[in-house]
Amino acid sequence: MSAEPGLTEASTRQRLSAEYLRALPKAEVHCHLEGCVPPATARRLAERHGVTLPAGAHDGDRYRFLDFPEGLQIYVAVSSSMQTPEDFRVVTHESLLSAAAGGCRYREIAFNPQNHPELTYAEMMDGILAGAREAHADTGIESRIIVAINRELGGEAALDLVRQVLAHPLDEVVAIGLDSNELAGRPSEFVAAYDLAREAGLKLTAHAGEHGDSTEMVECLDLLRVDRIDHGYAALLDPELLSRTVASQIPYSACWFVDYPEAEVEGRRRDVAEMAAAGLNMCLNSDDPALIGPEVDACYIDAGAHLDWDVKDAEKYALSGLDACFADAVTVDRLRAEFTAELERLRPLAYGSDDK
Ligand code: ADE
Ligand code: ZN
Repeated sequence: MSAEPGLTEASTRQRLSAEYLRALPKAEVHCHLEGCVPPATARRLAERHGVTLPAGAHDGDRYRFLDFPEGLQIYVAVSSSMQTPEDFRVVTHESLLSAAAGGCRYREIAFNPQNHPELTYAEMMDGILAGAREAHADTGIESRIIVAINRELGGEAALDLVRQVLAHPLDEVVAIGLDSNELAGRPSEFVAAYDLAREAGLKLTAHAGEHGDSTEMVECLDLLRVDRIDHGYAALLDPELLSRTVASQIPYSACWFVDYPEAEVEGRRRDVAEMAAAGLNMCLNSDDPALIGPEVDACYIDAGAHLDWDVKDAEKYALSGLDACFADAVTVDRLRAEFTAELERLRPLAYGSDDK
């Protein structure tokens, strides 16, 4: 999105160690469950259920695709391979263990119930919550759930989904989201679904300004009245929106990596750097660690190097995910106290050698 480079050129500062950035406690709020399924797991589930995966999922330990629409096709096919509550349990458990291994202590997991028509909402949630409980017992990682609307399926289907969510109230389900192809459904179509969710006390987030323009983001703010924006890079091209959201400090859940041939990895890094420099309230996320980029620890390690972070920067980002998250205040306060103690404990290790 940006014309001017926003990244630090050659730095004279000593680099934070990768080991320190991996250990840093992290709270991630933008991560899609179906984008966490490693190819080997997807192949196993697909074979079991007789699902044919696209060629880009047939071998290797990364999916292969050229552009975002092709990546979404893989995402949808992987979703089709998750057909039982047990599949959801396994995938949720595996994804949270992988996050926890990189220092993630809290993750908000978005998933798309509409991409799994074989299962009821209650069945999917049974599997997800079983996997989340197990991962918590194994590693201490906490999680909450965002029910994401697939914008390609339109406003009526979204309203129906929110009604299903409200018919099965669960403490762990904290928000409604909106994702999939931004060019295939404007936020204005989803006002009724968002109104219903807000009235029921759910938090609201939406993908906008990732592939679409800033008018999508303005609709999310004015019509959907979101509490957070997922991605939001298009704000850089709209000075009014930029100053509005700097003033409001609404959180942006930015994603550091886009890793497929037609993505502009450098462009994304520059956008995130510029958003931070403009004073937006940002946190760093992986998005789809098995599909689009690596796990959140790799995001921190790469961002730390490219943005020339010092310890204060690293600590600010570690806490920024907690500030943006939708867990209840008691949980957030407890996690903030745990993070603060851990950050202090880690501080002497910030510039430790990575060659040991
Ligand atoms: N679904 C999974 N990943 C997504 C992304 N990056 N943007 C929109 N929808 C998605
Ligand atoms: Zn996303």
